[in-house]
Amino acid sequence: MLRHLLEAALRPAVAAVLPDADLNLVQVRPCPDPRFGDYQTAAVMALAKQRHLNPRQLAADVQARLDVQPWCNHTTIAGAGFLNFHLNPQTVANALAAAARGEHRFFQPTPAPRTVVLDFSSPNVAKPMHVGHIRSTILGDSLARTLRLLGHRVITDNHIGDWGTQFGMLIVGWKRSLNPAALNRDPFAELERLYQIIHAECRQNPATLEAARAELVKLQAGDDENRRIWQEMIRLSQSQFDTIYGRLGVHFDHALGESFYNPSLPDVVRQLIHQRVARESDGAQVVFFDDDPSLKPHPAIVQKRDGAFNYATTDLATLDYRLRTWHPDEIIYVTDARQQLHFSQVFHVFRRWHPDARVRLAHVWFGSILGEDGKPFKTRSGDTVKLADLLDEAEERAFQVVTAKNPDLSLDQRKEIARVVGIGAVKYADLLPNRQSDYVFSWDRMLALNGNTAPYLQYAYARIRSIFRKGQLAQPPSPAVRLDAPEEMALAKHLLNFGCTLETVAAEYRPNYLCNYLYDLAGLFTRFYESCPVLKADPPARASRVTLCQLTAQVIQQALDSLGIRVLDQM
Ligand code: ARG
Repeated sequence: MLRHLLEAALRPAVAAVLPDADLNLVQVRPCPDPRFGDYQTAAVMALAKQRHLNPRQLAADVQARLDVQPWCNHTTIAGAGFLNFHLNPQTVANALAAAARGEHRFFQPTPAPRTVVLDFSSPNVAKPMHVGHIRSTILGDSLARTLRLLGHRVITDNHIGDWGTQFGMLIVGWKRSLNPAALNRDPFAELERLYQIIHAECRQNPATLEAARAELVKLQAGDDENRRIWQEMIRLSQSQFDTIYGRLGVHFDHALGESFYNPSLPDVVRQLIHQRVARESDGAQVVFFDDDPSLKPHPAIVQKRDGAFNYATTDLATLDYRLRTWHPDEIIYVTDARQQLHFSQVFHVFRRWHPDARVRLAHVWFGSILGEDGKPFKTRSGDTVKLADLLDEAEERAFQVVTAKNPDLSLDQRKEIARVVGIGAVKYADLLPNRQSDYVFSWDRMLALNGNTAPYLQYAYARIRSIFRKGQLAQPPSPAVRLDAPEEMALAKHLLNFGCTLETVAAEYRPNYLCNYLYDLAGLFTRFYESCPVLKADPPARASRVTLCQLTAQVIQQALDSLGIRVLDQM
């Protein structure tokens, strides 16, 4: 891609002026403001700062040795020492023509593919998936898709919470109060009911609490009946999760839940003790972080006084397993902000346990979803919103929107469109905000056909498809691209930045960059389409504009696909 060509030209020029400079830091990015140029580098400025040199002078020295003739009209120095590249129009037209010939798709597969394990979604058995799990599922899936598109080897693993103290209570509830008919109708609702009954009883009656403990001990010891009940709960939950994943179009390569690691926990603790990472304290096995001021007040208990293991112990065993099994270069965990301390502890313990491991560990965390009143998102009756209900409502509301816009389509067509638009709208609303901030859930906003929404982008795509249908167009056989109008040029240059956007999403785990890229793309397309006739243009201009339409549709589709959102030919 052009950006890489410019980088490749820039590096020797920098090396000629500063032989000891770290050339990996010499990067070229799209200019944030096209008035300054098309691409720019801030690297020269940064290098000057390190060396106490005058940045504009250094930029001028680099510029004097720079040969970007083949692609640029000229380069300029701006501000505190930015070096700006101004592409020549023919270069842009050639790059687009090459894309139209299928020689590239505006991005380059990475020259250094990594193996990445992505741990996301990870709901808990016997509890319905709620909106907190939605962000993990949608964000994780989008990261998996983007990394794969860029050529990385991605392994997705759903770390389901299928083990823990709640099963003691659930088993007591199951044995005492199960309503099999209700379980058949709505397993989650029935399991939740059982849990709530026993949970309340445990508070009032120590005997019930004792009973729950006893059932848990029996389960852990392998009691036949309890294991059967436990497995039945897992089976029921899994099928409900699978229904939701099916609706969302999310797929996992593995779903190794917490229970899978259960047999290895004693050995993990043994190793930690043996390597002096953990030590006994008050009967428990504990890892202290004396050398880390932020973690020092939060020692990690890897085995409790009663011998039980913790969530952190399971995560350590999981890490070890993943390392041995898949040899990843990186493991990414997608959960809400409240687990920051947990992962910080786990990562620290792991580094001391496996000091030689090179694997990169990333906790990709996100904020909460709020209701329009600014409080945690709840149903009208104050219950937590269940994911399945949320998706139902999204489809229903999208159906109203579609019907209002297109009453003539058949019922089946409108239903299918509503599915794609409704699910797309929910996903996009979740991906658009900076993931670390909370966001306010608003049906009207996410389903609007105008604004930075999935329906707006899906509509932009469908509109291009309809241009093709109306003109009965096929892709021109040997596409020549002419970019005479400023609107054509602006659109073309934005198409060229697709790859760079994907790379930033992957590097910072932030799909919102792709959302904003798409929104700008749709806006630039509209401006182009309003000022440059396509079907009514003369043949050479027409062929070129058809190519622009075609490439825009291709990029919208591919970008939405990276976000896990489908497109439609007609809306
Ligand atoms: N089941 C957990 C929850 O619902 C999330 C698990 C995240 N992944 C992990 N490896 N700890 O909060």
